[in-house]
Amino acid sequence: MDAKSGANTQSGQLTIGKQNWSFPIYEGTIGPAVMDISKLYAQAGIFTYDPGFTSTGSCESKITYIDGDEGVLLYRGYPIEQIAEHGDFLETCYLLLYGELPTPAQKSDFDNRVTHHTMVHEQMSRFFQGFRRDAHPMAIMTGCVGALSAFYHDSTDISDPHQRMVASLRMIAKIPTIASMAFKYSIGQPFVYPKNELDYATNFLRMCFAVPCEEYKANAVLARAMDRIFILHADHEQNASTSTVRLAGSSGANPFACVAAGCASLWGPAHGGANEAALKMLAEIGRVERIPEFIKRAKDKNDSFRLMGFGHRVYKNYDPRAKIMQKTCHEVLQEMGIKDDPLLDVALELERIALSDEYFIEKKLYPNIDFYSGITLKAMGFPTTMFTVLFAVARTVGWIAQWKEMIEDPDQKIGRPRQLYTGAARRDYQPVSRRK
Ligand code: SDX
Repeated sequence: MDAKSGANTQSGQLTIGKQNWSFPIYEGTIGPAVMDISKLYAQAGIFTYDPGFTSTGSCESKITYIDGDEGVLLYRGYPIEQIAEHGDFLETCYLLLYGELPTPAQKSDFDNRVTHHTMVHEQMSRFFQGFRRDAHPMAIMTGCVGALSAFYHDSTDISDPHQRMVASLRMIAKIPTIASMAFKYSIGQPFVYPKNELDYATNFLRMCFAVPCEEYKANAVLARAMDRIFILHADHEQNASTSTVRLAGSSGANPFACVAAGCASLWGPAHGGANEAALKMLAEIGRVERIPEFIKRAKDKNDSFRLMGFGHRVYKNYDPRAKIMQKTCHEVLQEMGIKDDPLLDVALELERIALSDEYFIEKKLYPNIDFYSGITLKAMGFPTTMFTVLFAVARTVGWIAQWKEMIEDPDQKIGRPRQLYTGAARRDYQPVSRRK
């Protein structure tokens, strides 16, 4: 698949010095067109320069579409609001991987295949003995997900479509099990094995919260909320961690190692670590009266403080996931009988103030998905250190679907960006005796 599957009805002109260069422009189904400058360096001897890739399309994709100005998110064309309302997470996994919603028979087969891959190799539990009990669960996740490649490296021929799908199913199925083990290990409780008769979200919550001394009581409201949180976090176009997985995979690396690289990138507070950081920020603000002090700091150019859970590289409107997350947050607080959560009071007042403040309006800083997810997950009983782990559990399918799309692209090649070099010009080595 290359950008030529987009309509090429016009070309873009670039004038450098006295020379004029022409490059094809491709139109997508919806959204901005792209100008294919892949031959720019060969023709003009010059690179483009776009740190952070704010104006760069790294690939062609059919998986997820975002319109940042309109606050639109589509998974294979279906609006996130409709999928979150009517679908479930495994159905969303099928949609992201195969491109269409499953028929009843396809859904039953897919659910069954995932369910029967949820156990991890018993040796996996030995990795945990090497970690300190207070190790951050994301450190454990990054290590253990990478270690999955130690079990499957020899059996993963990524040129074989069947083996690509088996590797995909294994990760969608096993990463929740590893995540629950990371949580149990951090709180000193025994690991809980998956149970095949449970649905994906209930199975995960049971692996996290069941204890050997009593029967686990599933809570349908919390399971539905967990499933919806997974749906909301499943994929999001070419974000930092997905781009990391694509770049790692472009060298032909084992897909388990690529997803481990995605975990590492997601952990950053500017990305998937923002939900943990947002909750810590709300706790630091503590009470509504202190909000103006933090708003002032967020505006101060000399203060590195940012309102965690606000702003987005693409959404310059409300993150559509944040609205659904806010609704889910209220459902969980009600189910847990939490009437007046001071963090929620601070969050609601902070959102109200920020959305009416000139600075945030001018910079188009709206709450993103991480703003409400932290409060919700805390109410469900997860410690803040587990928030990004839950994001990684959900995003695994997005990483895998994007990795699979890249591997199946006949024009795929290793990703190798260039640079603007501003270091020392060529100079000769000086022996230490002649250095002053
Ligand atoms: C996720 O990419 C994705 O799709 C990610 C994600 C996904 O699903 O994969 O959606 C998940 O990562 C959501 C984002 C979570 N991160 C946070 O909530 C951390 C706080 N947000 C920021 O760090 C920031 O908004 C980013 C990193 C998310 C986006 O930053 P950009 O697009 O690079 O914008 P920028 O940093 O250049 O900011 C533009 C201006 C700056 O001011 P000026 O230099 O123009 O004067 O807005 C200001 C920034 O100072 N700004 C903020 C702010 N975010 C940006 N000011 C205060 N608080 C903030 N949160």
